[in-house]
Amino acid sequence: MTRPQLLIDTDPGVDDALAILMAHAHADVAGLSIAAGNVGLGHTVRNARTLVDLLDAATPVFAGCATPLVRTADEDAAFVHGHDGFGDIGLPEPVAELSAEPAALALLRLTRERPGELTLVALAPLTNLALALRIDPALPERVARLVVMGGAVSGLGNTGRVPAEFNVGFDPEAAHVVFEAFPQFDLVDWEVTLRHAFDEAQFDRWLQAGDRRADFYGRIAGTARAFNHAHARRGVIAADALAMAVAIDPSIVTRSQARAIAVELDGRLTRGATVIDWAGRLGHPARANLVLEVDQSRFAAMARRALGATD
Ligand code: BDR
Ligand code: CA
Repeated sequence: MTRPQLLIDTDPGVDDALAILMAHAHADVAGLSIAAGNVGLGHTVRNARTLVDLLDAATPVFAGCATPLVRTADEDAAFVHGHDGFGDIGLPEPVAELSAEPAALALLRLTRERPGELTLVALAPLTNLALALRIDPALPERVARLVVMGGAVSGLGNTGRVPAEFNVGFDPEAAHVVFEAFPQFDLVDWEVTLRHAFDEAQFDRWLQAGDRRADFYGRIAGTARAFNHAHARRGVIAADALAMAVAIDPSIVTRSQARAIAVELDGRLTRGATVIDWAGRLGHPARANLVLEVDQSRFAAMARRALGATD
């Protein structure tokens, strides 16, 4: 397999961190464009720079939108990821520089410089991508693939509005813009994430066997793991890492279905829900390739390597 070429939009975030470690272990990363989401933009940008330091990488970091496109978000996810998004463990100020170029413009420039080469991996609310699309609607033509972590395809959400998943629920208008603009994309939703959580004991063994990346990840993941335990969520849930695995190696997908998708933008109870036309009744284009199952052992091997654990 030739080394995948990735451009990552992200709001780090504990599971974003594992995805970014995975990307640097298995692929070349053209840049990290940063959104607000899990926590505020100041923290997500800082966390991205911390990861670049940890990896001793030269990956450029671009700051994006500090708010959703239209409406104020109801909630962030600090109660899962910690107030600083990385478990509140007192990390030092990073040294990696922040690029002066805004994220949406960087997405446009990098895809113009390398038309058809980059896989865009969206691990955050889709605000930066939507803004880039409004500036240049031809963006999808220059991207090799788009992989999105977002949505809850049968309504098992993870936010205060029951059927909404966090990334789509944080900025539903942005998700609508992106889902309407890309003729095809892979969607790794919250529900497939739950079906592919890592076994806790196995994950702890990787953390012990790994290198400085494992040590770092073990420390920042404490708050999120404790939250999941307290809320009876099984295993180590790694939503963004699963999407990253699909971006790096699409052959790990063992079951998927292409379906039409829409985002509920109003809805007294359902704003931010992803509505799937499972039966194809409306005849709308089936733009979303819904990832339903992946090869768990290959996903695990990719995560293990990202943590520097040889097993
Ligand atoms: C998504 O929301 C965030 O909390 C995670 O980082 C992931 O991108 C899961 O719903
Ligand atoms: Ca994320």
